[in-house]
Amino acid sequence: MSLPPCDQTLAWHHLQSLFDTRGRDFDLRQAFHDHPQRSAQLAVEAPMVFGDLSKHLWDEEIRDALLALAADRGVTERRDAMLRGDPINSTEHRSVRHTALRTPAGAPSDDAAAALARAEAAAFLAFAEQVRAEGKITDVVNIGIGGSDLGPQMAVAALHPHVTPTIRFHFVANVDAHDLDTTLDGLDAARTLFLVSSKTFGTRETLVNAQLAMDWARAQGVTDLRSHFVGVTANPEAARTHGMGTVFQFWDWVGGRYSMWSAIGLSIAIALGRDGFQAMLDGAHAMDLHFAQAAPANNLPMLLGLIDVWYRNFHGFDSRSIAPYHHGLRRLPAYLQQLEMESNGKWVDREGRPMAVGTAPVLWGEPGTNGQHSYFQMLHQGTDRIPVEFIVVARPDHAHADSHRTLLANALAQSRALMIGRSLEEVLAEAGPSPSAEMVAVSKQRAFRGNRPSTTLLIERLDPRTLGALVALHEHRVFTSAAIWGINAFDQWGVELGKTLALDVEARMTNPTRSRSDLDSSTVGLLQRLELMA
Ligand code: F6P
Repeated sequence: MSLPPCDQTLAWHHLQSLFDTRGRDFDLRQAFHDHPQRSAQLAVEAPMVFGDLSKHLWDEEIRDALLALAADRGVTERRDAMLRGDPINSTEHRSVRHTALRTPAGAPSDDAAAALARAEAAAFLAFAEQVRAEGKITDVVNIGIGGSDLGPQMAVAALHPHVTPTIRFHFVANVDAHDLDTTLDGLDAARTLFLVSSKTFGTRETLVNAQLAMDWARAQGVTDLRSHFVGVTANPEAARTHGMGTVFQFWDWVGGRYSMWSAIGLSIAIALGRDGFQAMLDGAHAMDLHFAQAAPANNLPMLLGLIDVWYRNFHGFDSRSIAPYHHGLRRLPAYLQQLEMESNGKWVDREGRPMAVGTAPVLWGEPGTNGQHSYFQMLHQGTDRIPVEFIVVARPDHAHADSHRTLLANALAQSRALMIGRSLEEVLAEAGPSPSAEMVAVSKQRAFRGNRPSTTLLIERLDPRTLGALVALHEHRVFTSAAIWGINAFDQWGVELGKTLALDVEARMTNPTRSRSDLDSSTVGLLQRLELMA
């Protein structure tokens, strides 16, 4: 069904007038003062994730207007279409079934795709158990890039206390061979298992690295290469052609950045074992049920997606900072960058009409408290307002209660400081009854405007189940903002031109006598300098 552009709807116009009258100058401190119940009113319980949405530049009226926009844009209908398996990835004529990868037998959404996924999962989980049980492998190296790297890499780091201590896990993505070289340095090829992960099995970076890894293993005396190279792909034939012994499969209805639940998660499966991997799927499924069934006003992924639209298009905020206050989640910002920016970084809607409003914001971040000592200065006092997402874990997996208390206190203090700021009057009052001229001058530097919004997502403990829920929450949030904008979140044509041109430039580097007259002078000049420097 064709929808008008999102900004041409009555619901959008209503939001615009709400923004003009109250949204632009919304004062968080005043809102907390006027409504002592605000925190409870704007909190949402989702499975394993508690969302405090009270430190946002909104109230119930604005929330309801955003919910009206969601209704107008058919967010729930589009969600249902995805869950049913309709081909909502229209440019590639594909259904979008990452939720099927975590659907248990007998669940209301169980279907043929879910059954296929469970059968393949049984096979790769049996393989994972075998690797763990045999004890021959000391190092697993996942070779893959983008969605074939970021999810597994993030999850294995996040779940470190649950990872088998007898195997080390490595992730090589970059075609820059410094990545592979430093990873392989010191490894014993006879005890190393390579997982070559690529949906297409055509990604140049991955194929180049896989070939280098094979050369290295051969040079190290490995003769049965096929038993050291496992392929994970939606293109099994190509994987076998490239020398993979065992091949696990997934399907074109799983987007690369949504694929950590499939065999692409084989490194996670080896790290956690069958039960741990299944717990991750179960956590994600619990969030899928919440997204599918909770009323929009209590639906955490939907509300987060709506807040994202409110900030991006009405307040004009063009980035969001991710601040996971858990060292294990240090790769989460990178994972979320691909999830959101590759999904929603689109300039035309599904009808091919240029977007009149902005789409994906820039996502960035570092774990707390590290970020506090680098860029938080800008978050507090810079000229741009940037919403921050705090991810807080109540219980640690270590026994250092004092350091954990300090960590938690910092997370809460930062979101509070962003909100309350510090007025000039407050700074001056601290300086005493008769501040010197210098103190008055410096106090301007020390004042914070405050009123800077943040989300706090709180989970009790970081384990496979809660991580599954947390990641699925973000998948569905990205889905929601895409549905509001009317864009296709499941293709990524924007990466193709660079890939084609890289092949072209590489061919010209291999054969320098080939004419360069059709290239721009910058590219030609840089090629010449590189040749001189080589
Ligand atoms: O270049 C972008 C991309 O296509 C991503 O969407 C994908 O996750 C990544 O490359 C890797 O692709 P593949 O798994 O096919 O190697």
